[in-house]
Amino acid sequence: MPTKITKAIFPVGGLGTRFLPATKSMPKEMLPVVDKPLIQYAVEEAAEAGITEFIFVTGRGKTAIEDHFDHSTELEDTLIKRDKNDGLAAVRAMMHTPGSVAYIRQQEPAGLGHAIWCARHYVKDEPVAVLLADDLIKPEQGGKGCLKQMVAAWQDKGGNMVAAMEVPRENTSSYGIITPGASHANLTEVKGLVEKPSPDKAPSTLAVVGRYILEPGVFAELDQMERGTGDEIQITDSLARRIGEAPFFSYRFSGTRFDCGSKLGFLQANIAYALSRDDLGEDITTWLKGLAL
Ligand code: G1P
Repeated sequence: MPTKITKAIFPVGGLGTRFLPATKSMPKEMLPVVDKPLIQYAVEEAAEAGITEFIFVTGRGKTAIEDHFDHSTELEDTLIKRDKNDGLAAVRAMMHTPGSVAYIRQQEPAGLGHAIWCARHYVKDEPVAVLLADDLIKPEQGGKGCLKQMVAAWQDKGGNMVAAMEVPRENTSSYGIITPGASHANLTEVKGLVEKPSPDKAPSTLAVVGRYILEPGVFAELDQMERGTGDEIQITDSLARRIGEAPFFSYRFSGTRFDCGSKLGFLQANIAYALSRDDLGEDITTWLKGLAL
């Protein structure tokens, strides 16, 4: 089995109903945090971790994502003519080698597991990373991105790995929740995994956040097309069925995770990223202080 992870799946087929009307004709993954769309943060995090093949699982109404990662000759020509070098550098820096980005349509919203399964022919028998753009993870200053941290830990362990963090018990029904085994440094063995349990049934408060490294056996489980919570095909269930068959660890990353699938998390992300920007940090700090809440 290859020990290098070069492929990543980005499930971007979701409807984004929590952000209507903003997401009526615009993919939720294109919502900007300061001046960069959520999906670009995820793609950059993947590239930093060594990913060279980017597989987007899209749906209807998501073509803005494809356009975003392609040349816009008209725009580039205009930027050149007007000497807008910063803008030109920004749009060119995000171009990937031709052929390294693939788009697959998920024909029905049948769950995260189903979206990942749709990418199976591109993954073949290799380990693959999965990044959910809604979960924006801001690295510590000068620190590594979440996926890069996980890939380093995965080199020793192999198998399946998920990013994890503690959440308040009242929020367990929004997450995959782990039954934790032995912990060592940032790694905790996963003994069980359940999708969105109610607080009284949750085995712990250790929650999965949207970064996964999957071994090929997970795809064989997804092939079963078993439906779980919300009558959807859940990646959580396929991962749970691999327990005992392959190593499975959760990784407590360093960095701050923003739930950009929620309005509050999205606003917090915008403020946090603006605060750490050289061009905005001072002004936004002054403004926030001036609010004198
Ligand atoms: C998905 C997963 C869930 C995980 C969460 C992290 O849920 O199904 O297990 O904890 O992402 O954000 P979603 O937020 O898509 O409902």
